Amino acid sequence: MRFLHRVFILAFLGFIFLLWWGHLLWRNQDNLSIMDKGVDLPPMFDMLLHIQQLRKKRLRSFCSKTGKNIRLPSTQNEASHLLSSITVNNKLQFLYCRTPATGVEDWEQLLEMLQEKENVTLQIPIAYHHQFGNQKALSLYNLTSMESMLKSYTKVIFIREPFQRLTSAYLHGLAGGLSFEEFIQNILDNSSEKNRAEWAPLVTQCHPCLIQYDYILMFGLLGNEVHHLILRTGLPKNIQIPEFIDAKVRWAYSWLEEHMFHELSLVQKQQLCHFYRLDFAAFRFPFSMLWDHTCTSGSN
Ligand SMILES: *[C@@H]1O[C@H](CO)[C@@H](O)[C@H](O)[C@H]1NC(C)=O
Ligand SMILES: *[C@@H]1O[C@H](CO)[C@@H](O)[C@H](O)[C@H]1NC(C)=O
Ligand SMILES: *[C@@H]1O[C@H](CO)[C@@H](O)[C@H](O)[C@H]1NC(C)=O
Repeated sequence: MRFLHRVFILAFLGFIFLLWWGHLLWRNQDNLSIMDKGVDLPPMFDMLLHIQQLRKKRLRSFCSKTGKNIRLPSTQNEASHLLSSITVNNKLQFLYCRTPATGVEDWEQLLEMLQEKENVTLQIPIAYHHQFGNQKALSLYNLTSMESMLKSYTKVIFIREPFQRLTSAYLHGLAGGLSFEEFIQNILDNSSEKNRAEWAPLVTQCHPCLIQYDYILMFGLLGNEVHHLILRTGLPKNIQIPEFIDAKVRWAYSWLEEHMFHELSLVQKQQLCHFYRLDFAAFRFPFSMLWDHTCTSGSN
């Protein structure tokens, strides 16, 4: 079983390498600019706007039901602790939740580029956890500044299906030699493991009821959704944006994900449903094996 596992992972890494290589070749031939896609923009634009509205509506209804963390704590320490995952870019006035491997790494590279307004070559695959220069943690500011940034900046949250986040963390070698099943069991058993940014529920890291996010962007659809955001926020349109490869990664993961899903026992899957219940209630993930096969079957 372990051997089979390694073969799968090697094949997967090989595949990612091919993607990356193909991507470099493609980039050299054809520098895609936003304006090239201008022709079919209006219907697409409306659809993306509609998707944002649906996601925000679901989130508002979640917040009104649970009443979670809707106020900024009154002391500096509590506020800084609560908002420790939130990052700001002052120049472009963006505030976003920084959860690893949700697309936020590509996003930060885009912000850097917008900030300097020059062409950059995207280094893909971006190192897991790579942090770019000009962003700063919101928790470093005083309460007054936090409040005014929370009011006036454009706020963005990146979401990714929980089981995909787990497989991604595993494939990035965060399991320290454990099998996938052991890795999951360890997270479920150990309360200090549960809090790691790589897999802790997005709701507990990003506080979407306290922070009224303007954009909810989904891993797997980032190319279009970030493009939409750029057009709506009035950022310069004639710049070249780096290609987001999340859709390809998502596709490459799907068969591996299925394989890993079947390694888990029913009880483990049910415990994962419970662990991620807030994320599943706050956001809708159109492709979720965990949700479709386990969480909705009425057994939890
Ligand atoms: C980006 O590259 C394109 C083509 O290589 C060039 O025409 C354009 O001027 C560059 N933009 C900036 C801001 O350097
Ligand atoms: C908070 O920080 C801002 C900017 O650094 C500063 O102007 C302001 O005086 C500070 N407010 C308090 C209450 O310390
Ligand atoms: C829980 O996780 C922490 C940090 O990863 C580790 O130090 C500790 O030994 C684990 N405890 C158990 C009971 O596995």
